[in-house]
Amino acid sequence: MLRAAQELAPAEVELTIFDLDGIPLFNQDTENQPPPRVSEFKSKIRRADAILFSTPQYSKSIPGVLKNALDWGVRPEGDNAFDGKPAAIVSASTGRFGGALAQYHLRQILVDLNVHPVNDPEVFVSMAPRGFAAEGKLIDEDSRRQLRRLLEVLVGWTIRLKAVGQSEGSAPGE
Ligand SMILES: Cc1cc2nc3c(=O)[nH]c(=O)nc-3n(C[C@H](O)[C@H](O)[C@H](O)COP(=O)(O)O)c2cc1C
Repeated sequence: MLRAAQELAPAEVELTIFDLDGIPLFNQDTENQPPPRVSEFKSKIRRADAILFSTPQYSKSIPGVLKNALDWGVRPEGDNAFDGKPAAIVSASTGRFGGALAQYHLRQILVDLNVHPVNDPEVFVSMAPRGFAAEGKLIDEDSRRQLRRLLEVLVGWTIRLKAVGQSEGSAPGE
């Protein structure tokens, strides 16, 4: 999904993929001295104008791996790397609902992170193996069209939020 997003994003967008591999289990005893991979994660989030979350659905929610990374990102108190960021969410799952429940759980978590996700369009790739070619390329035309549209909307949303931040004296996420 993320590789398809790189391919379909508007020309002015630079979309970099951050792999959550290597982020250890969150431990509140060490939240003030985070491991290097967590510091890298948080600084990349901070530098980004916007965030695109891509997730599968695990047992009607997001994977623990993603929740764990979000927990690092929002801590310690007063050091929320996500604060005020515009975002969009995409999901793909083997089931018929395309990860819809994972997306709504993620939206709930994003309230706490003070992230502002795009509401419309919503992009769910259901029965995921059918939408992707063997080497992982997203080939379902409807999904590609929806993903392209979502990325266009995310760009407009990011520009709008930045303008609001500037008129209030600080850009979102700063
Ligand atoms: C622990 C676990 C729970 C899962 N639960 C769901 C689920 O609730 N709904 C669903 O559609 N797919 C579920 N799946 C399948 C994932 O969506 C699927 O593994 C994911 O889309 C990645 O697809 P891939 O293995 O083809 O890369 C689950 C997978 C795992 C490992």
